[in-house]
Amino acid sequence: MQHVPVLLEESLKYLVTEEDGKYFDGTMGFGGHSSALLNKVSPNAVLIGTDKDKQAFQYLKNKFIDDKRVKLYNTGFTDIDIISKIEFIDNFDGILVDLGVSSFQLDDPNSGFTYREDAPLDLRMDKEKGISAAVVLTKFAPEELTEILFKYGEEKNARKIVRAIVESRNSKTISTTKDLREIIEPIVPQRFLNKSLSRVFQALRIYVNDELEELKIFLKKAVDLLSTDGRIVVISFHSLEDRIVKEVFKYESLSCVCPPEAPICVCDKEQRLKILTRKPVVPTDIEIKNNKRSRSAKLRAAQKI
Ligand SMILES: C[S@@+](CC[C@H](N)C(=O)[O-])C[C@H]1O[C@@H](n2cnc3c(N)ncnc32)[C@H](O)[C@@H]1O
Repeated sequence: MQHVPVLLEESLKYLVTEEDGKYFDGTMGFGGHSSALLNKVSPNAVLIGTDKDKQAFQYLKNKFIDDKRVKLYNTGFTDIDIISKIEFIDNFDGILVDLGVSSFQLDDPNSGFTYREDAPLDLRMDKEKGISAAVVLTKFAPEELTEILFKYGEEKNARKIVRAIVESRNSKTISTTKDLREIIEPIVPQRFLNKSLSRVFQALRIYVNDELEELKIFLKKAVDLLSTDGRIVVISFHSLEDRIVKEVFKYESLSCVCPPEAPICVCDKEQRLKILTRKPVVPTDIEIKNNKRSRSAKLRAAQKI
């Protein structure tokens, strides 16, 4: 299985401050970031990892079977608060999430995450929760579908694509990635086709996994659970995700949110973070050349006060 961890050196530089620390990797994937972290910390360190994906979880269990520092959970990273209670951990010294899907999920012909292979049109990371992309395309009103494609995919042809989906679903079922591809192919110019397909698949994936809401919930819990001087590092691949991270970090780094015209501060706002990356860290040209999937990555890091 091949997944090249993105912004590896940069993420560890911000994340690891305590050799004997307690760490949380919310998107363990294929353990790329985690392995490098474990190489940097002592035998007394602890690493709690989550991944929603069953296959990733099975792979991780084998990979880290002999490392007693590692505890794995096949669940969403928003369970960080529940897991920390189960593990009797009050605070983490470092918390990492590397959002989105892994190369394995994208490349696996059966995963349904790619329009390049024919598979059931599902797009959920945890297939037991929520509804599949096929159900969304079959049941949702045209206006709702258009909003999903505009909002999460920034797809300019959203209206045209949704019209074609609605026309098609009146006569046949849409249940596979190929079904969706065949609907989009005739209506988007060939030279934009792959970009349009990626955007539509991305939009549906973000929607069925409720990715933006989960990120907001997670960031709040993560800041609560960081120890003083503990670090949070987020790698995102979508402008809406990056905006959420930027805004949450900014809010948590303010000591007052009173309107500027207020004569004295009455908001009781507590500054909880110091931002470590004024601008997001992005991959070098060499990293992008060696790993195309890194091209849209943005890393932001902050430290608990
Ligand atoms: C980009 S990959 C992470 C790769 C990993 N950093 C590595 O180096 O191998 C993202 C992973 O996060 C998982 N994932 C996405 N959203 C999640 C969530 N809300 N909770 C837990 N895992 C999630 C996906 O299943 C995928 O395996």
